[in-house]
Amino acid sequence: MMTTINYQQHLLPLSRQQLVDKLAEALTEDRFHHVLRVEQTAIKLAKQYGVDLEKASIAGLCHDYAKQRPDEDFLREIKEDGLDPDLLNWNNAIWHGIVGAEMVKHELDVWDEDILNAIRHHTTGAPVMSPLEQIIYMADYIEPGRSFAEVVKARELTAKSLTLGVAYQTEQTLAYLVERDLPVYPATILTYNAWVPQNKGEL
Ligand SMILES: [Fe+2]
Ligand SMILES: [Fe+2]
Repeated sequence: MMTTINYQQHLLPLSRQQLVDKLAEALTEDRFHHVLRVEQTAIKLAKQYGVDLEKASIAGLCHDYAKQRPDEDFLREIKEDGLDPDLLNWNNAIWHGIVGAEMVKHELDVWDEDILNAIRHHTTGAPVMSPLEQIIYMADYIEPGRSFAEVVKARELTAKSLTLGVAYQTEQTLAYLVERDLPVYPATILTYNAWVPQNKGEL
């Protein structure tokens, strides 16, 4: 069943429906439906773990807002906002979260730092993540459209403990990159060190 949150906290100058309409325009159809599933998964987790439902809805809907933008848009945003110059060496996979959060701020007028951090960190995680950040990180990974082998265990762990879910996803993501000889964004290693060893034996 779909839950529709009525926005009342003025976290952005749009109703939920107006935000959904903007996303339908900004994203491919597949990604638009992914974003709706992430929102619903985030709301479910927010109910379970006592997190603000309106923030979960906004962060879930906005987390991939910038995913379809051309590289030039990210490169311009990195320079104009004076973001870490090392970002220039990366690509859309990293930019759409970390740099995409700045686009959400400026273009959708969302200034809540918890929501923005949830968008920033949804791909790489971070050594310290608020409950909302953990929820968006996990909702993106376990939403019902995901079908990779590890997702079953990821859903079980997340239902039991948000922390264990975060640790499991982080472990799986690093293993995936290393097995394929892919580059590892430095923050992903910091996320691994902060979450995985301390939960050893429970994953
Ligand atoms: Fe994403
Ligand atoms: Fe996503």
